[in-house]
Order: sequence, then structure tokens, then C-alpha cells
Amino acid sequence: MIIKTNRWNPEAEVILKAASILRDGGLVAFPTETVYGLGANGLKAEAVRKIFLAKGRPSDNPLILHLADAKDAEKLAEVDSRASEVMAAFWPGPLTIVLKTRSCVPAEVTGGLATVALRVPAHPVALALIEAAGCPVAAPSANLSGRPSPTDAEAVAADLGNGVDLILDAGCVDIGLESTVIDLTGRKVVLLRPGGAIIERLEAFFGESLEPADDDFKRRSPGTRYKHYAPSVSVRVWTAGDRLHDSIDPAKSGFMGVSAPPAEFARVISFESEESYARGVFAGFRQLEANGLNIVAEWPKPQGIGLALRDRIRRASQL
Ligand code: TXA
Ligand code: MG
Repeated sequence: MIIKTNRWNPEAEVILKAASILRDGGLVAFPTETVYGLGANGLKAEAVRKIFLAKGRPSDNPLILHLADAKDAEKLAEVDSRASEVMAAFWPGPLTIVLKTRSCVPAEVTGGLATVALRVPAHPVALALIEAAGCPVAAPSANLSGRPSPTDAEAVAADLGNGVDLILDAGCVDIGLESTVIDLTGRKVVLLRPGGAIIERLEAFFGESLEPADDDFKRRSPGTRYKHYAPSVSVRVWTAGDRLHDSIDPAKSGFMGVSAPPAEFARVISFESEESYARGVFAGFRQLEANGLNIVAEWPKPQGIGLALRDRIRRASQL
């Protein structure tokens, strides 16, 4: 079932209905500023297990707990002064923080790790829902495992259909890429996944460069191991100024990017900025796939949101 809700001022009866489904152990897909999430009561192991079933997600890939307020983090994780300063500066927002977990968090959420990932999303519907549910909401992106993340309710329905009790539809998301994930359990801040929170802003805040995750960390952040974000057609990259690779047939391909396409493509999805490219990249993947076209995606510049966009395009193309 899909229910439309006002993005800025969600209707109380809609939120109460969705919250009661969560409290009763059901699944609710809901919008956040990054992508749509597939939510369950984060303190009920049985409810959390339904998420893995609905997505076909490997059970060792841990979930993010979504909170309505940073002050609730303390109940779920060990929050030191550095962590609370980061929360004050970046929440609500597209930053997920990995901390040492507390024993009330089910192993289904942490994937059996000693850590838990937390985030307060910057979206009125998500915040109202979590607040009304009165529990942390465990939520991965609301796509089938391995597919592009959903940036609107239609994409959620296409992937999960009847596998979810309710989809809250508040239209398109703002950012279009998932949250940035950082690990704060050690002395150095480790970047587990580039995303909506801009790396340069984080580095300015910490006064140090973020350490990219090494192999040991990748084992501890299992999501980074899997092929991800991928449509079923091929995804190739093209850098502005380069010749199109001979093996690409533009007549059978769709182009996405901010620059003018380097050939006559069967379809062109143009974006006016890297931000709008980020917002539209997953929907673009899904559209071109539905048209049966291979995808040529412009390779973004390695700065700002472009770093996260590169990560998703790289992984979709399995480069
Ligand atoms: O923007 C987002 O982050 C969206 C919205 C719904 O909030 N959620 C999302 O969740 O993208 P998901 O499950 O698709 O990605 C979560 C990532 C995965 O790569 C997972 O491995 C990592 O966070 N993760 C979760 N808990 C972790 C932990 N305790 N330690 C290390 N990595 C963790
Ligand atoms: Mg995901």
C-alpha cells in the first residue's frame, strides 16, 4: 500500500498509522533526504529480520539505526565528546556515525559486530515517523539488494511491491545518494562510505583528512564488499573531453551527465549540476534500464558530491 504524504507537513493520521505498523513489527518504507529507507522497529530482532528477507540482503550486512533526536544515541551506543560534537554539527543530516554498540541493540542490526551505525535524517516525514514510533528505526535503502537505491516511492514499489506493509510517498528525495558513513571507534576518523555529507566539510570540521577504509575496515563494513547500485544493463563511464570508447554503440545506449554527450545517443538525460546529477543518477539508471539501453555515465570531478557519485558509478559499473 502506498500513501501520499506532505513532505513539509506530514498528516498526523498518516504518521500514526505508519508508526503503529512499525511498533507492531511491520515494515514501512519512508523518505529521507538521501534515499528511501525500508524501516522496522530497530529493537525487535524479529521485525529486523523481515528487512533482510524483503531485500534479499546478506544477513552479515549491518543496518543503520535512525533516530529522531541525537540525545537518543546515548542509549544505543557509547557516545564520547568527539561524537557528540559531530552529531551537533551534522545532524539532522546525511551523515551516519559508527560507534561502539550497547547490549540493547539486537545482533540482527549490527551484523554481530561490536559497533552500531546511527543517523538522524533531515526529512520531516522520517523525523515524524521515528518520533511517533517511539523506537529507533532500522533502515537500509528500500531497494532489492544490489539494485540502485530508490529515490521515489515508485522505485520502492517496483523493487519491493507486496514485501512491505506500507510505503510513505513524499515525492523525490533531495540528495539522491546515501549518507556518508564514518567510523568514530578509533583515534583516526575512518571513511567507510562517501555520501551525502561532503567530505571537504567533514575534513574541515575534524581538521584532518579522512582515512579511507583499508581491508580490515572493509571486513567490518560489509556493505562495501558487495556489488551495488547496479542496473541489469551495462554501465560504462566517459570522461568529458575524451573520445567515446570504440566498443560503445551510442545508438544502443543512453547517456547521463552534465556535459554535452560525445555522440548521438538513443537517449540523453542531462543534468544542470553535479548535485542534480547525484539526485537523478539512480532514477536515470532505472529509466535507461527500462528502455533496454546500455548506460554511459559521465565520470564526475573528484570533489564535493562528485566523490560519492564516483563511488556509486564505479560500483554500478564494477570498474
Ligand atoms: O542514506 C542512507 O544511509 C540510507 C537511508 C535510508 O538512511 N540508508 C542506507 O542503508 O543506505 P544501507 O543499509 O543501504 O547502507 C548502510 C551502510 C552499509 O554499507 C553497511 O555495511 C554500513 O552502512 N554499516 C552499517 N552498520 C555498520 C557498522 N556497525 N559498521 C560498519 N558499517 C556499517
Ligand atoms: Mg543500500
